[in-house]
Amino acid sequence: MNRALQDIRPSDTLAIAAKAKKLAADGIKVCNFAAGEPDFDTPASIKEAAAQALAQGQTKYTPARGLPALCKAIAEKLKRENGLTYSENDVIVGGGGKMSLSTAFMALLNPGDEVVIPAPYWLSYPEMVRLAGGTPVFVKGDDLAGFRITPRQLEEAITPKTVAVVLNSPSNPTGLVYKPEELKAFADICVKHDVWIISDEIYERMVYGGERFVSVAALSPEIFRKTLTVNGVSKAYAMTGWRIGYAAGPSEIIRAMETVQSHMASAPATFAQFGALHALRGVEDEIQPMLAAFEARNQRIFELMAQIKGVVCRRPMGAFYIFPNIGAFGLDSREFAQRLIEEQHVAAVPGLSFGAPDNLRFSYACGMEEIEEGMRRFKAFCQTFA
Ligand SMILES: Cc1ncc(COP(=O)(O)O)c(C=O)c1O
Repeated sequence: MNRALQDIRPSDTLAIAAKAKKLAADGIKVCNFAAGEPDFDTPASIKEAAAQALAQGQTKYTPARGLPALCKAIAEKLKRENGLTYSENDVIVGGGGKMSLSTAFMALLNPGDEVVIPAPYWLSYPEMVRLAGGTPVFVKGDDLAGFRITPRQLEEAITPKTVAVVLNSPSNPTGLVYKPEELKAFADICVKHDVWIISDEIYERMVYGGERFVSVAALSPEIFRKTLTVNGVSKAYAMTGWRIGYAAGPSEIIRAMETVQSHMASAPATFAQFGALHALRGVEDEIQPMLAAFEARNQRIFELMAQIKGVVCRRPMGAFYIFPNIGAFGLDSREFAQRLIEEQHVAAVPGLSFGAPDNLRFSYACGMEEIEEGMRRFKAFCQTFA
């Protein structure tokens, strides 16, 4: 067996999701805040584009780097929306943002190389790094500072073994959106130490309350040359099951990723790439209502949660998660989440999995009614500790 697996923990998200599923199968109404995916269906025109591709016989392999037309559409999207000038040859399509990130780590890391990951983090980053033979190094953001890390903390974590730093703004699980000047300070440090920046921008469209998203690579030409921009269609276009992500960056990384991908996966399913092509060429009218719904839910879940005694949270600025601190109740987050689902049938993911043992992650990619009912139950659960 691969020894790296010995250090990899089974996912708490899956354990909670399995419990929620079992309760639902027993006819119990579960308020499910565990899922990391939009509750919306994929816009109809995207489904039609994929169906049309199938009907037209688009059933063969594409080049390992992805359908050339899709690579071109990604380069155009990055230019139009993010101010980034990539050639279509500097783009690689992968089987979801997750696979694009894993491929990047496999392409970049040698045994013992370090990757700096701000915590709380998306739970897959450390495991991807370990599977690629690397060592994750965590920099903990302070809960009281909205989980922001500081440039100083980042610089102190960089050693001669550091190969890359992961930035994820808007963040899963905290919803933190860094300001452009903060991102620039982090990225300048990476440039100074000749460390790659892996910028995971999958939640770029979900920003609230007038916050502004910027791509890290757009912050200076030097930063552009050290950044791999990773994104995908899962979240913004409600296409989680299509498994299309992408990365764009300096050709040395993209070529190395292409080599890895050509042996491990080839490109993702051809008809799914045609669907993504349609999405990226512009379906703004179809995604705007979803984005507006996320903003309304963000506001409402925060209002309701902020009223619960003992729960400490701030309004998330992006993504579709809220990450309250439940430390005042005296249970660790795993036990808290277990009891919450058993006693009130509310599914949320323990913060422990994300490097924050006193927090709980609620995804509000669910309907308003579920939010109202779920927060009523969450409040009732918290009141049992009074
Ligand atoms: C921070 C972050 N990055 C990347 C992904 C990857 O998504 P996908 O593989 O569906 O593109 C996710 C999905 O949950 C995520 O939360």
